[in-house]
Amino acid sequence: MAKTSLAEAGVDSLVLLGCGKMGGAMLEGWLKGGLSPAVVQVIDPYPSGWLKAQAARGVTLNPAELAPAAVAVIAVKPQMMTQAAPRLAVLAGQGTVLLSIAAGTPIAAFEAMFGAGTPIIRAMPNTPAAVGRGISALIGNAAATEAQMAMAEALLAAVGQTVRLDSEEQMHAVTGLSGSGPAYVFHMIEAMAAAGTAAGLPPDLAMRLARATVAGAGALADASPEPAEQLRVNVTSPGGTTAAGLGVLMPELSDLMTRTVAAAAGRSRELAE
Ligand SMILES: NC(=O)c1ccc[n+]([C@@H]2O[C@H](COP(=O)([O-])OP(=O)(O)OC[C@H]3O[C@@H](n4cnc5c(N)ncnc54)[C@H](OP(=O)(O)O)[C@@H]3O)[C@@H](O)[C@H]2O)c1
Repeated sequence: MAKTSLAEAGVDSLVLLGCGKMGGAMLEGWLKGGLSPAVVQVIDPYPSGWLKAQAARGVTLNPAELAPAAVAVIAVKPQMMTQAAPRLAVLAGQGTVLLSIAAGTPIAAFEAMFGAGTPIIRAMPNTPAAVGRGISALIGNAAATEAQMAMAEALLAAVGQTVRLDSEEQMHAVTGLSGSGPAYVFHMIEAMAAAGTAAGLPPDLAMRLARATVAGAGALADASPEPAEQLRVNVTSPGGTTAAGLGVLMPELSDLMTRTVAAAAGRSRELAE
């Protein structure tokens, strides 16, 4: 299915609050996807060199007064929220959709700031967004319409895949799985490289093999129509080397991963309180 263009999704004007790693990756994706710099306003107190270059191409940077916008994307750190979000108050009540990617700031906090009648959509992306390979989970408040959810999906599609949630409570589990998940995989690379070194390889070579194996297996899992379980079975000959390795790994990993994701989800719940 062809991706909905930002224009088709109704993004004819946009405010970006916070243009750091995540905001910058999204803005880059939107501009590459054909969004006109002229319809973008960015608020960021310390603009990067890249952002200043976008301003030279027509993006409005730190306007004294915000012009009306179809959507405002909130990409500041949660601890900056109370300081940064009031800049958007001028847009509330004008039909502007607020799309927040801030981890841990619940929809209710935005409703308290802007009113429950404001369409508010919360999303949790992850760091592979930096290379256009993220996955973002979304949930909207009661005021967010289907067309506005589709608009948020089109915006997040600029940095990867999107999925919708049934309830905001699921955001904790999403945080524990896909939000924190890239770090688990990076650690897996470290652990595999250390294991390769212990098995007799020079550290540089072990790291190169581990990194390419995780990246390649990820790409294969992504490209293949077969489920991960079948891909595993396909490379596991009975009595072979992979079977010997999995015989050690599999009895431990499910329980370890269950506890890992539960710990991260639990911390997400604590931080939200
Ligand atoms: N990175 C991730 O993997 C990830 C994943 C999921 C969700 N998120 C969420 O995405 C949000 C942004 O994360 P990030 O990694 O992109 O952080 P970041 O790189 O620190 O970006 C935040 C940006 O907001 C700017 N800022 C600070 N105060 C501001 C203000 N008052 N008004 C406007 N802009 C202000 C910062 O400027 P200065 O740097 O000059 O302070 C920075 O450019 C966070 O809420 C995070 O929870 C991130």
